Amino acid sequence: MKIELLENKVFFENEGLKKEIHPFWLRERVNGEKFVDKGTQQRLFDPTELKENVEIKHLELSNDFLEVTFNDGSHTKLNVKNILKEFSNKNEVKFIKKIEWDASLKDLNNFYFKKNIFEEKEMYDALVSFYKYGFVIFKEVPTKNNFIINFANSIGSIRRTNFGEYFDVKSKPNPNDLAYTSLPLAPHTDNPYRNPVPCIQMLHCITNEVQGGLSTLVDGYTVTEKLKKDFPKYYEILTQTKVRFQFVDESVILEDWAEMIQLDENKEFRQVRFSPRLDFVPLMEKEKLELYYSARNKISELYNSEKYRIEFKLMPGDLLMMDNYRLLHGRTSFDSKDGERFLQGCYIDYDSTEGKLKHLARKFGF
Ligand SMILES: [Fe+2]
Repeated sequence: MKIELLENKVFFENEGLKKEIHPFWLRERVNGEKFVDKGTQQRLFDPTELKENVEIKHLELSNDFLEVTFNDGSHTKLNVKNILKEFSNKNEVKFIKKIEWDASLKDLNNFYFKKNIFEEKEMYDALVSFYKYGFVIFKEVPTKNNFIINFANSIGSIRRTNFGEYFDVKSKPNPNDLAYTSLPLAPHTDNPYRNPVPCIQMLHCITNEVQGGLSTLVDGYTVTEKLKKDFPKYYEILTQTKVRFQFVDESVILEDWAEMIQLDENKEFRQVRFSPRLDFVPLMEKEKLELYYSARNKISELYNSEKYRIEFKLMPGDLLMMDNYRLLHGRTSFDSKDGERFLQGCYIDYDSTEGKLKHLARKFGF
């Protein structure tokens, strides 16, 4: 990748492909204290008020800098590295390749909490690991005074839901969700009925004195790829049929329509939703419904299969951070007579983790 000049024009060259960079694109990036606020990096001018027919009057290129003078009199010195970075997207989270995993996964992505971890390289490594595997576990996170709130807000900011800013997971009388019982929870994604669905769930173990109550995780990405390969008809209908997810309690009715497997604009994996207590398929032709039901049974069978599930016991201080768009989570049953099992949970969004990751990459020069 490099920058080249030819008769007052700037070209971007990549693997033999040469394209002219629009002069306005460069004009928008004019820096210097008259044009950009040093502290915020925000423009001090409005590019929509500039004349569109901006032209380059003079150009100079050295190894590190491109100097441009425009016909409106503005002059700038742009860092070549920064220009190339805009074309490479190297720091984009989407370029961290997902790693498929199943029950054979042994490394549970453990990272040890320490004071100021949020500004340390360990946090960068943990976030990269999170994007590769869809989860990480932070060990020895302080358990007093709802520390999960501090933890979440030190990465980004908490996303409040109908369960509050954070929620206590322990069995209680008259629960409004099965999570608050001692019953087993089959693999599911959280809040599929919300728009948008909360991206990342944190679960912090405060006490765990029971025998069972193991946490379970399944990689929805691995299962989706398996379905795509071995059952293409099922994959097709689950990626094309929008179903209604619904949550009802005394004060609110939340509904959203979405595919059980949602793809992005490039037809690649974006998100899975799975919560068979909350989904309602629309009334379609009988044959189509028949295919849909078989597909839902198959994906349920795969999600619930031991082949894809990891099980582990969260110990006091463990904080599990998992991607609610990619992973399914659940737990095995337990007997509340054994003692207390108390977890605290909350949600944050992707812009928090992405923003933190980019900040740490900048800080450590990655
Ligand atoms: Fe859940």
